[in-house]
Formats: sequence, C-alpha cells, structure tokens
Amino acid sequence: MVTSPQTTPTARTAQSDWWRQAVVYQIYPRSFADANGDGVGDLPGIISRVPYLVALGIDAVWLSPFYPSALADGGYDVDDYRNVDPRLGTLDDFDQLIEALHAEGIKLIVDIVPNHTSDRHEWFLEALEAAKGEPARERYIFRDGPDGSDQPPSDWESVFGGSAWAKTDDGQWYLHMFAAEQPDLNWQHPEVRADFLETLKFWSDRGVDGFRVDVAHALVKDLSEPFPSKATLPRQSESNGKHPLWDQDGVHEIYRDWRNLLNTYDPPKSAVAEAFVPAARRARYASADGLGQAFNFDLLQADFEYEKFRKVIEENLALAEENGSSSTWVFSNHDVVRHATRYGLPKNPKGGWQDGKDWLLSNGTEPTVDVALGLRRARAATLLMLALPGSAYLYQGEELGLQEVGELPAANLQDPAYFRSKGAEKGRDGCRVPIPWTVDGLSFGFGPGGSHLLQPKWFGAYSVQAQEGDPDSTLSLYRKALAVRRGLRTGNSLTWVDGTDWVLHFTRDGGWQSITNFGAAPVELPDAAVVLSSGPLEGDKLPSDTTAWLI
Ligand code: NOJ
Repeated sequence: MVTSPQTTPTARTAQSDWWRQAVVYQIYPRSFADANGDGVGDLPGIISRVPYLVALGIDAVWLSPFYPSALADGGYDVDDYRNVDPRLGTLDDFDQLIEALHAEGIKLIVDIVPNHTSDRHEWFLEALEAAKGEPARERYIFRDGPDGSDQPPSDWESVFGGSAWAKTDDGQWYLHMFAAEQPDLNWQHPEVRADFLETLKFWSDRGVDGFRVDVAHALVKDLSEPFPSKATLPRQSESNGKHPLWDQDGVHEIYRDWRNLLNTYDPPKSAVAEAFVPAARRARYASADGLGQAFNFDLLQADFEYEKFRKVIEENLALAEENGSSSTWVFSNHDVVRHATRYGLPKNPKGGWQDGKDWLLSNGTEPTVDVALGLRRARAATLLMLALPGSAYLYQGEELGLQEVGELPAANLQDPAYFRSKGAEKGRDGCRVPIPWTVDGLSFGFGPGGSHLLQPKWFGAYSVQAQEGDPDSTLSLYRKALAVRRGLRTGNSLTWVDGTDWVLHFTRDGGWQSITNFGAAPVELPDAAVVLSSGPLEGDKLPSDTTAWLI
C-alpha cells in the first residue's frame, strides 16, 4: 500500500489552484443527513457527518441549493439567494458548516442559480403585481401572445416538457426554460447583473471557496422577434452560438465581471460552469478570465467501451491544456441515473449514450438491471476516473455503490420532469433518495424521523455501517483510492501505453499506472506492484470490467 505524504490542513487551504486536481463531493442537502427528524436533510446533519467526509478523503464539498425554496425543482427554484431554507437551518448553521469543513482542510463550493429565480422571489412577486409594461416586469422576460389569440408568444418547449411560456392573470406570458415556478431572468437588466455580484460577494465574504454555476450557458438570450419556431432551432449540443436560447457569446461578458470579483479574494474563488455545449465551446466557460472550469459530461454520457472512453479522455485533456484550465470528470450527479445502475442496463439498441432514459420511463417498461455488472463496471470506471489528471466530481452515495431507486411510488415523486411530462418520464428522484447510514432503523440512520423520498428495504445492505469494516466494500475502495490519489496526483498529463484496443492503460508522472480491461477475457498485468484494484484479480491477470492501479 502506498502511503500519502502528510499535508496539513493549513497547507492545503493555502493553495490557490487547489481545484485543479481536487476530488469534489456533491451533497444534495435534503437527502444527506437529517438532524431534526423532519424527514428532510439539513445543515446540522451535514455538520454531524464531517468526520465521514474526512475519512472518505475528499478535498471539497459542492453543496446543492440550500436556499429558501418551495421545492418546485428540488431547490433550484430559489426564493432568496442570501439565506438558508429554515427547514435546512440558519445562516449560523451555514457558518458552522464552513468552519467545521475548513478545520479539516475541506473546501466548500455552493451552487448558484442565475438563469431563473423562483416564482416566490420578491422580484417576481413585484413583477406580477405590476401592470403590463411597468419596469418591475423588465427583470424577467414578459411578452404578449400573438394578436387576438390565446397562444403563447412562441412554440418553445421547457426542458421539463410543455410550453416554455406561462400565462399571468392579465394575459401576458413569461418565459421559463424549466418549470413554470422558475421564471427566467432578463440578464440585459443592470439590476440583475448587479444583484448576482452582490450574492457572490455575500457567500464569498462568508468564506465559501467557490461556486457551481447552474445552466451557465442559458443566461443571455437572443429575443429578437419574430421568434423562430422550435422546428428551425439548431440542436442545443451542436448550436455553436447560433441557438437563441443557449450558449450565446454574450454570456461571457457576465462571467468576466464575475471573475474580476472572484479574483479580488485571496486565494481567488473558484467557479465551475454547468454548460451543455459542444466540447470545443466549453473552453470559453473554463477560461482564466471566465469561470475557470466547466463540467465535462462526456464520460458520463459514454457507454462503457474502450474506444469511447479513450476518445473522451484524449479530447478533454487536449482542450484543458489548450485553455490552461483543468479537466473535470463525473459519472453521477443529482440529475442522472446512478452509474452503478446505468452500467447494468441493457445497451440502448438505438446506439447513443447510455443515459438510463429507458429506465426512467414510468410506464412499467423498465428494463431489468444487472446489478452485479453495473456495480463492477461502476467501480472500474471510478477507479479509472480517479487516476486521470483534472478534478473528479463524486455524488453522495456513489461511494456506497448505491443503485438508482426505481420503485418510488408515483405519489412520492417530486421531480417537475415527472409532472410536466405527464408521467412519461419518471424523473430524477431515484438518485435523490436519502443516504442509508445504518443497516436498519426508521430511515436507515438518515435521521430520527422518516425520509422524504421512500428508501427501499434493500438500502440497508448498501449502508455505511454495512460497508465500513469490509475491506472489499465499495466504500473501502473509494477511501483507499482517494488516499492513494492524494499522494500521487502530479502533473497535468498522462502517457498512453498502447496495446490492444480493449485495454485502457496509461501512466502519470512518477510511474503511477492505471489499467482497465474493457474486454471479455482476463489480460496480463504489467510487471509492477498492484496498489489497488476495483475487483478481485485472477493471479497476475486483470479480469474483464476491472481497473488496477500499479506503481
Ligand atoms: C441543472 C440542475 O442540475 C438541475 O437539477 C435543475 O433542474 C436545472 N439546472 C434547473 O435549475
């Protein structure tokens, strides 16, 4: 076993480019730990689990929205950007959380949601009270429908299904690219721009280390009329700045202002963009005068296949080098089917990425999941990811090998995607079910009360308690991998070791090797000491769907 050099918490917090090779752990606060027993996770719950985060060995926490919200979209409908939802705690609790994390050398990144507010935000309430054409409506995107008709201003669809326009009592329509409870802001309005700078300052002054920027590519829109119909719009992923609603070049002006503010702090605050844009345009969000880093969902979207993984890795490392950022890697988050389940789904016969969409259908046609295969591949994929240069984003529960909960009853579902698609999509609740901490008990140790999304009986077997003492558990694998990585991650590049086209083998500076067998039969391991493997080896052979680290 390789031991990691001892870095003191203080030495670690002092590094201004800490984010470049960080392991960031996403906490979805309502589903992590519930201290007050109301069935909803909270900030004191997270504080009580800081020792768990320390033992896991992460560098930073990314906290999904914890702001006051009616939860029309799991907290991404924000009522007040500079406060804490009373169900989750208080600003004092927030300060204590930062203190507890920083005392252990763990950074805190918070989610910022600039594309839309909630429909309970004071600006939107003011806009609704104002008459048509009054300035209070200008912070949002209000338009009339076509003359004399009861139709919306265009046929654009919301990401969650249905029209992207909702009608107000006085007959005007407002744009919402997500749920109707999430009206889109007008980023041409100087007050909107100024207010978000205030919000960034507010949390930065409170000590947060960085921001995750929600739908960062949506803020600036080309709303010239007549509005083009949806049939003529380019595909979002191929739009190259030509789509009126996504990835407009003008958005980078906003992020330059943000970067100027974030750079006034020492060390500068980090920021990572959630931007669904073609790989080549991602660099703009990740530039040094922009947010600095952008999510790359390419591995998440790739089937578990040698060629796809290799292409994605090569492309993204080249892009990161070109723009001086560092790549990001992610397999799971609160929006997708957990990767331990995705990899156990039958391959999509239509090709394309294994996004688990088939699984999400709620019409009773869910395909059977090969749980063992899914977990084996998820462990192999994660170990591979953790050997890559760049930062790795983990989602709460993946370190337990947690599976998607497919059996949530309809009455318990919360995701607007389920409601707006009229049940055609099951939505994202299955990856948001509260974490099982103990083998049994009312909510498997989530808290002294129940759990807002129902945990299935099989959750106990995945609990922290069930895995803690087991050296072969997924939790033990993550803990060992993060400890080893901490000691070895150096340099921004890797060197491929070419062999067959089903074995992905590379080395990092210092001789750290990662080798993954995507083929069907076991392969010979190189002549070096095995530090860690995602599954049992067969003598000196690496079985299929397995990754090993060697040095
Ligand atoms: C992306 C977030 O990850 C997702 O959960 C949310 O529904 C949308 N943005 C809208 O805010």
